[in-house]
Amino acid sequence: MRKIIELYRGKTKTLYSTDNPNLLVLEFRDDVSALDGQRIDQFYRKGLINNKLNYFIMSQLQEAGIPTQIEALYSHNAILVKNLEMVPLEFVLRNRAAGSLVKRLGIEEGVRLCPPLFDLFLKNDSKRDPMINSSYCETFGWVSKHHLSHMREITFQSNEILKKLFSAIGFILVDFKLEFGIFNNQVMLGDEFSPDSARLWDAKTLNKMDKDLYRQNRQTQVGLIEAYEEVANRLGVKLD
Ligand code: TMP
Repeated sequence: MRKIIELYRGKTKTLYSTDNPNLLVLEFRDDVSALDGQRIDQFYRKGLINNKLNYFIMSQLQEAGIPTQIEALYSHNAILVKNLEMVPLEFVLRNRAAGSLVKRLGIEEGVRLCPPLFDLFLKNDSKRDPMINSSYCETFGWVSKHHLSHMREITFQSNEILKKLFSAIGFILVDFKLEFGIFNNQVMLGDEFSPDSARLWDAKTLNKMDKDLYRQNRQTQVGLIEAYEEVANRLGVKLD
């Protein structure tokens, strides 16, 4: 399968068309971004690490019955995926308080959230990904009521699978973000799952092992790659 043209360049990934209109190549670059793209840096090997981590985690979800876009590994820093019609929403699930929840409500970081909290955001960098709810989706036609409810259900199911996966290797899955699309009228998990889009804390030390290392630090050398490699090592994901 050949990459043909660049269809879309996001903040950290690039999508290419292929000879098959149903399949795309999703490439993970070495870029990292924060503040809705206002801050961007490069970390050597990050594209490779996130590609392999994403492929492993999406495969685990797929094996557990969650429909995903993944087809096959394409190269060290790219995968072959189904060409989904993406929904412009971010589905966030929180097991512990962190990030925007702490800022918005003043809840202490790390507080357990039982049952987990579900948030919906509109994907729109220029408006800084505003928080919305199901009523907005219906009124503005971003996704049907039926598909939205299925996407929400898959988000909660994924949380159960991923919480177990990470807890078995000594991590707390604090929160994560998923994105969905439609393929042949079926809801599928798209985009990525990586330490860029999830918060992972070491269960013993509570050290952060995710993009917060970069978000919360102005310097470039923040141990981000070392943390991502540690996540890969504990999951048994080979990086060479
Ligand atoms: P938040 O605390 O900033 O709302 O983020 C919650 C989780 O969702 C966190 O793991 C980071 C992830 N996330 C993204 O990956 N991209 C985004 O645009 C947003 C808003 C959150």
